[in-house]
Amino acid sequence: MLKKLAISATAALALSAGAASAAGSDGHVEDFKFSFEGPFGAFDQNQLQRGLKVYTEVCSACHGLQYVPLRTLADEGGPSFTEDQMRAYAERYEVYDAELDDYRPAKPTDHFPESGDPNAPDLSLMAKARAGFHGPYGTGLNQLFKGMGGAEYIASILTGYTGEEKEEAGTLFYENTAFPGGWIAMAPPLYEEAVEYDDGHSNSIHHMAQDVSAFLMWTAEPKMMARKQAGFVAVLFLVVLSVLLYLTNKRIWAPVKGKKTH
Ligand code: HEC
Repeated sequence: MLKKLAISATAALALSAGAASAAGSDGHVEDFKFSFEGPFGAFDQNQLQRGLKVYTEVCSACHGLQYVPLRTLADEGGPSFTEDQMRAYAERYEVYDAELDDYRPAKPTDHFPESGDPNAPDLSLMAKARAGFHGPYGTGLNQLFKGMGGAEYIASILTGYTGEEKEEAGTLFYENTAFPGGWIAMAPPLYEEAVEYDDGHSNSIHHMAQDVSAFLMWTAEPKMMARKQAGFVAVLFLVVLSVLLYLTNKRIWAPVKGKKTH
């Protein structure tokens, strides 16, 4: 049984290693520090608000967030807008209403719009879609040991431009150390101080990249805090249960074991 397990584990590792190297040169993902890492990590509300600002002012020109309902901006554990702030934010978008057969300002029940640029992928779930396979040979070990995931990947893409560009078949590609293959069709979206922050936080490329990546981690996993809490309760429960079972077991076998030793 153990042997079989070992063989299949080795096979799986070898396979994923093969798949990773077949995909061409792997991008280099930087290990950013995020407040939500670790078993007790939580989203930083101010960072999510800054990240939303970067998304709104820069990324939303091309990328949509079509799976994210606007009302969730007021949810606890997220950017935690007040109801009024959330409503005001929603109204900046126009959505097509089939009943009116016309466009109207978005309501809290509407979602963020879809990508405006057909080549730009929707970012709602990007942080989850790119979470796995970090680490040597795409084994995902860095995710396990360093908490590196999709947020790190996105921040690395945004800060990974070398400044080199090339044209291929009429499309411009930009050299990027984090993007698998090394050349991405997205022009560097951030420049120093691209977005003015209200809270006085540094708006260097590095910080804006980190903020928007944290925000995109939240869009991809808005219930992360609840999940971690449930996980913690489950582990606590299992620990207590194990202790009780151990003691019960000892007690049940005590007469039998007692006899043997004499
Ligand atoms: C001018 C349009 C434009 C803007 C602005 C823009 N992007 Fe992109 N983005 C693209 C395009 C096009 C692609 C597809 C690139 C490719 O596949 O080579 C892309 C791809 C991506 C990817 C996917 C990389 C992958 O692994 O497939 C991420 C993540 C991303 N963009 C994040 C952002 C963020 C965050 C911002 C805002 C700071 C932003 N983008 C701003 C056009 C844009």
